[in-house]
Amino acid sequence: MEKFDKKEIDAKVREGMPFAHRWHNRFHIEMPFGLINDPNGLCYYNGEYHIFFQWNPLGTVHKNKCWGHTATRDFVNYAMPTLAMHPTDEHDKDGCYSGCGLSENGNLRVFYTCNAKDEQGVRTAAQRFGTYMIKEGAIRKDEIAVPHNPPGFTAHFRDPYVFYRNGQKYFVLGAQTEKERGCVLVYREKEGKWELLGELKTKTTDSEKKFGYMWECPALLKFGEYDVLMFCPQGIEAHDYKYQNEYQSGYFAGHASFDSMELYHGRFQELDCGFDFYAPQVFAHEGRHILLGWMGMPDHDADYPTAEKGWLFSLTMPRVLTLRQGHIFSKPAKELKALRMEESAVDIDAQETQTVSASLGEGAEILLDIAMGKAHNIELSLNYGLEKTVIRYERSEQLLTIDRTGMKLGGRGVRRVKLFADKLLSLHIFVDRTAIEMFMQHGEEAASFFVFPEKNILPEMSLSADAPMESVSGRIWELDAINFR
Ligand code: FRU
Repeated sequence: MEKFDKKEIDAKVREGMPFAHRWHNRFHIEMPFGLINDPNGLCYYNGEYHIFFQWNPLGTVHKNKCWGHTATRDFVNYAMPTLAMHPTDEHDKDGCYSGCGLSENGNLRVFYTCNAKDEQGVRTAAQRFGTYMIKEGAIRKDEIAVPHNPPGFTAHFRDPYVFYRNGQKYFVLGAQTEKERGCVLVYREKEGKWELLGELKTKTTDSEKKFGYMWECPALLKFGEYDVLMFCPQGIEAHDYKYQNEYQSGYFAGHASFDSMELYHGRFQELDCGFDFYAPQVFAHEGRHILLGWMGMPDHDADYPTAEKGWLFSLTMPRVLTLRQGHIFSKPAKELKALRMEESAVDIDAQETQTVSASLGEGAEILLDIAMGKAHNIELSLNYGLEKTVIRYERSEQLLTIDRTGMKLGGRGVRRVKLFADKLLSLHIFVDRTAIEMFMQHGEEAASFFVFPEKNILPEMSLSADAPMESVSGRIWELDAINFR
């Protein structure tokens, strides 16, 4: 499998930095070539946040899955990305699939899914540990913990995530029953071996209430007294304001028992209501849960015109999650404030107004508090010459819409989410070259999406309403780029 030449690939990444093409983002992690997807192995180790990710360095298709790596202390300065692991043997010859990272006995260990197919296309999935060798910048592959899927479950058996409870070590992983019902399985370590405890039962375990045919990328997190099972179900039908993407990313919040193997939980809630968000992972470090997601969507490559330019997809910015009354709020990590260029900050302070506009430059952060006053319909438009993406709030419907029908290239359509804003609408928006992330009502909802302006035109923001708004206040900062060194 010499097709993966680490030296050559790493050199090519260095040559590709800083990015030249105007569709490349400035403060989102992405690669100069190839296809990236899920963040993997997120782990705080030795003073740094280590970020691995799925990466095909050889093309812009979902094949040749390797792990890329970068690291940061501050989410502004990053290590030059490198190839950390690639398929090498009969276990992972068809992909080093997703997995987690853990700091253990002074080592940065990873735990990933080895994907292999035989001549007939029959899949096997083994779960294997590895150790990241800092000097070499590469993962040494260690023992296989689980060689194959257990009886009753198919080979859609992947994406392990290690966690601890009461001094014991466990992992969950995404699985599918033979009846094609998505679920998670739990393993526990016992005398150096991994025993299968079984399926973590939820309200969807009953086959009548089946929730998708496969669950990918699970994680079991602790928020105070609460257990949160994050996962990505596949095969959920869209509703008007829910599940609008092909595949979802969300969570159940509740309490897990590993004696009864049950999770008592509330309803499934989505983590992001934009077009381009999937397979998130979380760093749990010093009391913070910092999420990174994949900005992209499986099986929709045609929505992303950068493929013709040699690369596909980004990771989201780091977001800090908090659980309040059973709901996860997301906010951009405070470290990102370091990207603000003070000298370019614009104060917005308008009373009794129907319009506000501003130029956004190469990358901007917009913070807006809108006292809606007499206005019922509010529109924030990002204009790229004649093209535009519109964020609309309809007060009577309590509905927020993200509308990309005014763009020419890439995925279009609308995404809608129920959002309760009584008198005050608060929006926090990061507009990168093509990647946009928005936080609404102080993080109650988040949305990630791409726009690909056809012409080389920097965006102008215009805010308008159908009647005078009582006041609009806030700030716009031009943002600096993150660095790769
Ligand atoms: C999610 C996923 C994972 C898998 C990986 C392969 O996007 O399908 O389930 O491990 O991507 O790239």
